[in-house]
Amino acid sequence: MTSLVDKFGRQISYLRISVIDRCNLSCFYCMPTANGCSRSMGDALDLDGIVRIVRAAAVCGISKIRLTGGEPLLRPDLTELVENISAISGITDISLTTNGALLHQLARPLAAAGLNRINISLDSLQSEVFQRITRGGKLENTLTGLLAAYEAGLTPLKINVVLLKEINDGEVADFARLTLDRDIHVRFIEFMPITGDSHNWKKHYQPIDIAMKQCASIAPLLEEECPENGGPARYFRFKGGKGKLGFISPLSRHFCSQCNRLRVTAQGKLRACLFSEEEIDLRPLLGQEDEVIRAFSHALTAKPDPTCLDSDPLVRCRPNTFGMVSIGG
Ligand code: 5AD
Ligand code: SF4
Repeated sequence: MTSLVDKFGRQISYLRISVIDRCNLSCFYCMPTANGCSRSMGDALDLDGIVRIVRAAAVCGISKIRLTGGEPLLRPDLTELVENISAISGITDISLTTNGALLHQLARPLAAAGLNRINISLDSLQSEVFQRITRGGKLENTLTGLLAAYEAGLTPLKINVVLLKEINDGEVADFARLTLDRDIHVRFIEFMPITGDSHNWKKHYQPIDIAMKQCASIAPLLEEECPENGGPARYFRFKGGKGKLGFISPLSRHFCSQCNRLRVTAQGKLRACLFSEEEIDLRPLLGQEDEVIRAFSHALTAKPDPTCLDSDPLVRCRPNTFGMVSIGG
């Protein structure tokens, strides 16, 4: 078995795959314009291509797969895809990042197909604010989806909240309180200027420390031990609380040295880093597993040196001006 070991000596075990770059919402921090990045399913990898990539990844020791988008639930064959991935030997954990709008119908079949966990993007608990952020989305759909996921056992359920000054920063306490009596993880994420819209970023960027202080004023926060390969979040729990609070700070605090992930775009391009344009096209290699495996090893060496990344977020995020919708959140 080939092993993917990064330059910090750790085994890479986690692969994020964007399965579609269309979305049924148009969050202003993700999409440059309403539906501006929408592309048809047309050039996304087909089910067989994704399964081949996961098979090669499993040979390299990758055991955790996250399916992202755009909005993965828009893929008509998503349940079948999950079923196929869960049958691959070595894959022990399959998770999904979704906006939840279509989850009501799909949570149960996805769980039955082998999906283990789910992350839901939910930036406001107020209908009008939700509508403003998502450019027209309906809060009710996401909340119904969230409940369906919880009931289908897709736990621990993680809610991702992009922190937006003067938009949802007044709701930090409401989100945080959800963790008091439910096993839900609420994760606050710093707004990254990935759409190239510097005006909105300057206006609405809020450092994560502010949210952390808001949470600490509700009840004492106890820091949780960082799970191995747990990713970039720092976790806390309210004293006596059932769920967890996560704080993800890509901008105010670099987490590159803890980065344990590789990404595949919807078109099958392997990316070593969110902040780098370098990518390897896997599509022409899909017929030969060895070649795909070689590409994984190569991508790992292409991970940029964290100290070389520009300290100005507007410069650092420039390679991603097509938005998260293309590369997967
Ligand atoms: N800043 C921070 N997170 C973002 N996401 C998308 N765009 C941004 C951004 N500009 C992440 C969010 C969302 C997921 C789909 O991608 O966490 O929930
Ligand atoms: Fe869609 Fe998620 Fe991007 Fe919002 S953040 S537009 S829900 S992919």
